[in-house]
Amino acid sequence: MKIKKVVFPVAGHGSRFLPATKATPKEMLPVVDKPLIQYAVEEALDAGFTDLIFITGKTKRAITDHFDQSLEISANLTEDKKQLFQQMNNIIPSHASCIYLRQGEPLGLGHAILQAKPVLGDEPFAVVLADDLIDAEKGVLRQMVENYDDNQSSLISVQKVAKQDASQYGMIATNDNKLNMQKLTNIIEKPHPNEAPSDFGVVGRYIFSNHILSFLEKTNPGAGNEIQLTDAIKSLLQEFPVYAYHFDGVRYDCGDKLGFIKANIELALKNKVFGSELLDYLKKRLASWG
Ligand code: G1P
Repeated sequence: MKIKKVVFPVAGHGSRFLPATKATPKEMLPVVDKPLIQYAVEEALDAGFTDLIFITGKTKRAITDHFDQSLEISANLTEDKKQLFQQMNNIIPSHASCIYLRQGEPLGLGHAILQAKPVLGDEPFAVVLADDLIDAEKGVLRQMVENYDDNQSSLISVQKVAKQDASQYGMIATNDNKLNMQKLTNIIEKPHPNEAPSDFGVVGRYIFSNHILSFLEKTNPGAGNEIQLTDAIKSLLQEFPVYAYHFDGVRYDCGDKLGFIKANIELALKNKVFGSELLDYLKKRLASWG
């Protein structure tokens, strides 16, 4: 069964990035020249998703505006500008559609996903956290779709994280540590580093069987007094298979100032127009520090 629906929870406050996110959605922060949410949307479109479901909230209007056709292409523009404006008006191709839902109260990631229930029907769906930017030759969602072949099971992307950072992630345990896809046996949201069940943490790409919704409905507030997706996954894996997927790619935590700066440097270095000039600049800068 082809998975068509993808949920982008974008109602979060972005408190780690204040003051930049006081009135601007963190998902609109640009990495080089594109907002984070556009990277996420392009990754989903590339993986074949067509129903893009955004769970938005207060101060998030810019996200909705960004995907509208809003740039006027007048005859006075240069050919280059016309092309650029055309591209900007066509981020969402005609075979795909955007669905905007609101999370009226900030009750957590699990609660945000539950807001999509009326449009998810009984189909499997993906979830993308836009502040996890992943630089990969083949998009991580595409990798996951290719590895997903059973609509009863779920797939969660994971990566190795430093022990002291365990308290920033959903940390997992699996029944194997060799394959790049392993059956999950446990998951804990933001544990103390000494209580993490392994060195592997969840990164913001998921494919869920529809069963997750009924578990989310039964989930009580957990870590940070929020309804945690992780807690629903923990219940889900008691009854349905959930797999950890080790993706190919480099992930940047762009909800964090340092992660965001690293993403900008790495992607700017790859830029065809000014990448090599930036590299020269950085080399000179480093040399000047001796
Ligand atoms: C969320 C999830 C967490 C996951 C993380 C990945 O946490 O709750 O399990 O490891 O995203 O970025 P957040 O970063 O929103 O606090």
